Parts: sequence; C-alpha cells; structure tokens
Amino acid sequence: MRAVVYRSYGPPSVLSLENVDDAHERSAPGRGELRVRVFAASLNPKDVLVRKGKYKLFTGHRFPKGLGYDYAGEVVACGRSAGFFANKDRVFGMIQTWDGGTCAEYITVRAEECARIPDSLGWEEAAAIPLAAQTALQALRDVAKVRLGTRVLIHGASGGVGTFAIQIAKALGAHVTAVSSSPNHDLCRTLGADETIDYQTSSPFAAARGYDTIFDVFGNRTFTEARRALHGRGTYVTTVPSRRTFLDIAKTLGAPQRARLVKVRSKGSDLAYLAMLAEQGRLRSIIHRVFDLHDVQAASTQIETKRTRGKVVLRIREMPSDRSAGTISAAQSP
Ligand SMILES: NC(=O)c1ccc[n+]([C@@H]2O[C@H](COP(=O)([O-])OP(=O)(O)OC[C@H]3O[C@@H](n4cnc5c(N)ncnc54)[C@H](OP(=O)(O)O)[C@@H]3O)[C@@H](O)[C@H]2O)c1
Repeated sequence: MRAVVYRSYGPPSVLSLENVDDAHERSAPGRGELRVRVFAASLNPKDVLVRKGKYKLFTGHRFPKGLGYDYAGEVVACGRSAGFFANKDRVFGMIQTWDGGTCAEYITVRAEECARIPDSLGWEEAAAIPLAAQTALQALRDVAKVRLGTRVLIHGASGGVGTFAIQIAKALGAHVTAVSSSPNHDLCRTLGADETIDYQTSSPFAAARGYDTIFDVFGNRTFTEARRALHGRGTYVTTVPSRRTFLDIAKTLGAPQRARLVKVRSKGSDLAYLAMLAEQGRLRSIIHRVFDLHDVQAASTQIETKRTRGKVVLRIREMPSDRSAGTISAAQSP
C-alpha cells in the first residue's frame, strides 16, 4: 500500500510517499480493533514536532516512521469486541500513539478511539476534526468547566484548535472573545466569536477583564501574564507542556486562580459528541487547503508557517464524489 514515511528526523524533505509492506493486511484486526481504508487525513503541529525529533524521548530511533494521527475512512474489517462497528461504516478518529501513520491507504485503529461520521459530513471535513476539536472540547468542557454564561478568551483562535474552540465554547453557552491577527477576525466572528482582539495591536492581557477562562491555544503566553485578565476564580489553560507550565500548575493547586494544561485523549464518546454538533450544523471544519498525498512535503511546510487558517488536510485516495462535496475551505470563508 502507499504510505508516507520518513527514515530520519528532519525538515519536510525527509517525508516520502512509498509503497510499503502492510503487515496488518495479512492478519485480521485484533481484539477491539478496526481495519480502515483511509480516504483523508489531517496534519497537526504534533506531526511537525515529532518529525523534527522534539519528542525523541518517546519516539526513539526506530525508523521508518509513519506520518499523521487524524483520519477519516471506511471500515473494511472488524476485530472481536470492536463495539458496534460494521464493515463499510464511515469512521473518523485520532490514533493515540507517539508514532503516527494515518497518511496511509490502510490503518488499524482501536474501536474505542473512533466514531461514526454523520452522512452530512465529507471525508475531508471529518478528517479535520479529531485531534484539534477534541483538544478544544477537553480543554474547555473538562479542564476549564466552561458552561452557560462563562466568559472565555481564546488566544490563537484562527488555527486548527482555535477555530473549533470558538464553536465549541459557543455550543457550551459561553461568551467568546477571539484573539487572532486582524485579517482573521471575520473568520472568528463567522464561527460565533462575540468579540475579537488583534494581539499585534493590543494586548488581551493588559487590563483586568474578568475572563473566567483563558484558553492559550497558541501557547506562547504564561499564567503570570494572563492572571491580570482572569476572574478571581478563573482558569488559564495552555496547550504547551513546558517546565514553566508544570511549575504554574503546581503553584496553583488549590488556589482560586488556576493554571492547567490540556493533554488530548482520543475518546469515541467525545468524537460522537463532535459528530452530533457537526450534524446539527453547529461545528464546521475550516480547511486551509486540501493537498494530494504526493504533495505531503508542501502540506507539512504549510503547518510549519504557524499561519494556517483552520486545518491542513491530505487526500489519501480518490473519494466517492458524494462524500467529499461538503468541505468548507478557508479561502471560501471570510
Ligand atoms: N496539549 C495538547 O494535547 C495539544 C493538542 C493539540 C495542539 N496542541 C498545541 O497547540 C498549539 C496550537 O495548535 P493548532 O493546531 O491550533 O496550531 P495551528 O493551526 O498551526 O495555529 C495556527 C494559528 O496560530 C496563530 N498564531 C500565529 N502566531 C501567533 C501569535 N504570535 N500569537 C497568537 N496566535 C498566533 C495564527 O493566527 P493569526 O495568523 O491570526 O495570528 C494561526 O491561525 C500547537 O503548539 C500544538 O502543538 C497541543
């Protein structure tokens, strides 16, 4: 089968599309597993960090490695105790491993870490959701306990996690202030943001603003900077697991103002909730661009710019035309 692999840590040029031996093809999926024919995958900053060797402690020195954690595809075989899934089900999810591998024609996944794709959602829109939207959901609902009336600031609101965070915070009933560069303000408002701030011209943390939750999606601010703008019992949630983050968390255990870290987990129940929001038209995938699989180096370079509006998606194989029509591109959005 065709798959994207790399044989050393490094820049996007280490990535290549190859015909690889598919060890799983010869064996049935194991207990709790599904075999999936992949139609689309999406990339995340995690792909870049792992490919550059930033997490060598966890990823080691065994090569070749695969690329990608997010996927959307069709079940072709079910292992024992693989939930209620059946062959031909359309599923999406994120593989919960350090080594990626969803940029491949076939993958084997854990059934408990995926969910069915609603009929109204195309492959590309579905592939954009799992890692980024689950991060936003778990940060806002589980870590920060956002609910009706919560005042939320989202810093880094126009990227992969941020575009989902705006919509999920609104679905939870929050008042949302989105922080992005000004060209992306219209996009943030279209997704439901009540207010927008341009971090290039004014600091969202300069004054007491009484936010209940500050979600530092981009992760370049600190709890110390953010706390002035936080409510006295507010929560600052970051995506970046730095030494500073762990110190702030330790210092604020039991304190009224809290620093916290989100660490995304792939859960079938969360994906099913996100699928429901998408089916109801309350969650849209903003797609910066869809790349063909042989353009994987360009797709990875785009993620490295840190200027991606929404998500970068890879088309893994030709799609049945009725399943790819619904994609909303960032270029089409304001
Ligand atoms: N802990 C976890 O479990 C977890 C899970 C997912 C992601 N993450 C991390 O979360 C971060 C964001 O992920 P992502 O997928 O949203 O990334 P992304 O899509 O690459 O983010 C791109 C966005 O960042 C914004 N940006 C660029 N420079 C900025 C700055 N100086 N200040 C504020 N915003 C800026 C850009 O908006 P403008 O052009 O409008 O500035 C752009 O829209 C990454 O570091 C990722 O590794 C962690």
